[in-house]
Amino acid sequence: MKLPCLPLHLHHHHHHLLLLLLFLLLTLPSASPLPVTPKPGPCPLLHILSARETTAPPGFGSSITLTQLLLSTFNHSSPPPTHPTITAEAIDYPALGANTSEYAASVTTGTAAVIKRLSTFNALCPETILILHGFSQGGQIIDDALCGVPHDFTGLGKPDEDGGRVGRPLVRREVQRNIAAVVLMGSPRFTGGKRRGEKGTAKVGGFAARPEGFSCPVFDDRMVSFCDEGDPFCSDGEDEEVHGGYGGVYGGEALGFVVERVLVG
Ligand SMILES: *[C@@H]1O[C@H](CO)[C@@H](O)[C@H](O)[C@H]1NC(C)=O
Ligand SMILES: *[C@@H]1O[C@H](CO)[C@@H](O)[C@H](O)[C@H]1NC(C)=O
Repeated sequence: MKLPCLPLHLHHHHHHLLLLLLFLLLTLPSASPLPVTPKPGPCPLLHILSARETTAPPGFGSSITLTQLLLSTFNHSSPPPTHPTITAEAIDYPALGANTSEYAASVTTGTAAVIKRLSTFNALCPETILILHGFSQGGQIIDDALCGVPHDFTGLGKPDEDGGRVGRPLVRREVQRNIAAVVLMGSPRFTGGKRRGEKGTAKVGGFAARPEGFSCPVFDDRMVSFCDEGDPFCSDGEDEEVHGGYGGVYGGEALGFVVERVLVG
């Protein structure tokens, strides 16, 4: 099934996006702005939802690097001054993982939190274009919300009659339509470069890898997932520094992907 290209129903936003494109071409990101949680009031043109990694304290965790890069790139006050161009918030979820059962419970709670926040935000700001970014466990909960929860890992999903190879979104269609780009880094759902949108040097998947041949037809075009060899979580390595470094290593490439998805659709 082919979904309509994202901005199709957002015609009245097109001139804003074109202005934004002009600014992007004419300016470079300057100092990193601090993330701003949207206050009640006019809806932003773009909104980033980020999810941190396991054991990071509440907030953005390592997802801050790309989040700030996106904020500083897209934040130009020029379109309508009455509407913020871009805002960001961190998904509120436990991000625990002392052992397998605690991790599974945290993923379950986190996935539900992603679904709920997308739904409430979309109800509040039905025209806002969404960018999702997840780091490590944060990547897994976004993947699960957008591409389904496999039966074998958390036991939450329905038994997978097709072997769990076709991912189905757990978010409503109105929400699906507004999600322009999804960037995962160090996600345990990584399969070793066999799934569409996977990038990086890792050839082996993570501890919660999707099955071989997995696809997520609704989001495959809008999603990238980075994982490098040596990462113990999205692959089978032993180098935790690899896991923590993706924002710096792949931030520019991720930004390019998001800019293209948001502006070209
Ligand atoms: C975006 O720019 C405006 C105007 O310069 C500023 O008031 C606002 O705080 C900035 N927002 C972010 C997220 O940096
Ligand atoms: C997992 O870790 C949590 C928190 O440390 C602990 O309360 C729980 O008993 C542990 N469960 C198992 C099965 O080890």
